[in-house]
Amino acid sequence: MKSEEKAIIEEESVQSHPFVFEVNNELAIPDYLNETYWWAYIHPKGVRFFDSTFMVNIILFGNYTKLRDTIVNNLDENSGDILQIAAVYGNLSLKIAKKITDKNRLDVVDVATIQLQNLSRKVTGYNNVRLLHQDAINLNLEPESYEMVMIFFLLHEVPDHMKTEILEQALKISKPGGQIVLVDYHKPKSWSPFRYLMIPILSWVEPFAMSLWKRELASWLPEGTKVKKITKETFFTGLYQKVVIDL
Ligand SMILES: C[S@@+](CC[C@H](N)C(=O)[O-])C[C@H]1O[C@@H](n2cnc3c(N)ncnc32)[C@H](O)[C@@H]1O
Repeated sequence: MKSEEKAIIEEESVQSHPFVFEVNNELAIPDYLNETYWWAYIHPKGVRFFDSTFMVNIILFGNYTKLRDTIVNNLDENSGDILQIAAVYGNLSLKIAKKITDKNRLDVVDVATIQLQNLSRKVTGYNNVRLLHQDAINLNLEPESYEMVMIFFLLHEVPDHMKTEILEQALKISKPGGQIVLVDYHKPKSWSPFRYLMIPILSWVEPFAMSLWKRELASWLPEGTKVKKITKETFFTGLYQKVVIDL
């Protein structure tokens, strides 16, 4: 997408909607997002087209609801404050906001204002949600302030060095004793048809995704990170994974 076109889209979305979150006018959209994913996350038609539980379920072969619920079902009013790094299409954030009740807070950071504006529509009326315009590699948040940091299908979309930078930020703002929860792609089992079907699709559409087939997600934690426990669960013949890092 041309930079003038992008600027117009960003400006329009900022001007024509009442924002209920912090906007940082200095923050630039990262190159990989503009170059690789503009059609999915930056262009208003893309946002309208892709943002539904139905559509995300199609993209994830019917697994969105299940993966969403592996997070939501473990939450309750004693879960504490949650940070969601990057907006997610569908109703994940709304489900979390409802489940944690007013006793806790859900903060969602995203680098694209159009994503925050779109999400604000879905969580209207939930006073326990804050939408913050920030880059995942440079979070301006209180250190050690969240019981849980959740990253849903973001790490496969960012270049490898950023996977570590994002996890470094997640560690910084997690409370000792807290959890980092990652849901993302994974290398399917050898007998899975998806092992072969997904290679051309991911290699073509998602240039940074295949490294999740080659390395464990936790291997991107910064060197020397001390954790209590790492639990990995895989889904759908191994195509998806949920990794819980207990701190
Ligand atoms: C979470 S990922 C993909 C989620 C999944 N495909 C879905 O929507 O269900 C997409 C989001 O990540 C955001 N994003 C990408 N890079 C980011 C970064 N460095 N910091 C914050 N948000 C980022 C994009 O703006 C987009 O809203």
